[in-house]
Amino acid sequence: MADSHAQMTRTTPQEVIVSIVAGLFAPLLAIVLIVMLVLDIQHGHKPDASSEDAQKAAVERIKPFATLDAVDPTVVVAEKSGQDVYGAACVACHGTGAMGAPRFENKGDWGPRIAQGFDTLLKHAIEGFTGKNGTMPPRGGIADLKDGEVARAVAYMANSAGADFKAPEAAAPAAAEAAAPAAASVPTPDLAQGKKVYQNVCSMCHASGAAGAPKPGDHAAWDARIAQGFPTLYDHAMNGIRAMPARGGNPSLSEADIANAVGYMFTESGGKL
Ligand code: HEC
Ligand code: HEC
Repeated sequence: MADSHAQMTRTTPQEVIVSIVAGLFAPLLAIVLIVMLVLDIQHGHKPDASSEDAQKAAVERIKPFATLDAVDPTVVVAEKSGQDVYGAACVACHGTGAMGAPRFENKGDWGPRIAQGFDTLLKHAIEGFTGKNGTMPPRGGIADLKDGEVARAVAYMANSAGADFKAPEAAAPAAAEAAAPAAASVPTPDLAQGKKVYQNVCSMCHASGAAGAPKPGDHAAWDARIAQGFPTLYDHAMNGIRAMPARGGNPSLSEADIANAVGYMFTESGGKL
């Protein structure tokens, strides 16, 4: 009894250790292996090359639309004016002269810079420029500003301080590209057909001058409009301007119908095609 007891107390600790090793270490090992496996799987997935490929493929798929966007005439409208760009991107430094920037409306700050000419100022604003006062970051630090937007902001700032730079609408490549096809696609008007469209649709407002619609033949109302040129008037009639609805509010009219009607109104009012 005493012997067997002693035997039991001798062997029990070893059995306990063995059972600990067998009963704990083995599952622990299993857990560690599972965790390593999971980590390995996750690691394999995160920088997955196929997801990068997928992104590239997505960009490729979007490209045609992005390219279309670039020549979409509405892009011109979406571009910010000089004042807007200045307020969003330039005022932070140029408003107060922070970092040594020439101050808005300050002729002393701007005089010698204006003397360099618009092209140099624009180049410095687009590419960035380090002078004796400090550093002008490229595009004021906003990389996605369009060249035309930066150009308008430069003109806006320089003009505030005495320059007389033209707001360079044409310097915007998007504007130039967009204007060309629009102008090229103006149909040649047929004035007899145009008279019919005018009588059926446009006269509703234009005969009476309703809502400020210019009456054909009313030179006071038409002179300044005619000065814009036929393609611009055609564009305004197609797309609407202020109280003038697009296509006279009649979307079923074709481009030729509109060109004919504008041509009729234009020539009736003294315009030469
Ligand atoms: C982080 C500050 C900062 C911002 C933002 C900033 N500028 Fe400047 N800009 C400067 C500094 C500084 C100078 C003067 C550098 C010098 O001559 O030492 C400068 C100079 C210029 C000049 C004169 C360059 C010349 O040749 O003398 C133009 C033009 C200009 N900035 C345009 C812009 C326009 C446009 C924007 C906004 C789109 C803009 N800047 C935003 C800091 C800034
Ligand atoms: C619902 C009234 C209405 C109808 C219908 C209408 N117009 Fe107008 N249109 C106007 C008004 C108002 C203006 C002046 C907009 C302004 O300059 O503020 C205008 C201006 C114009 C101009 C001058 C745009 C400019 O840049 O100054 C043209 C061209 C024109 N309309 C063509 C047409 C043609 C073509 C039709 C028929 C297909 C037509 N309009 C039908 C209301 C109308």
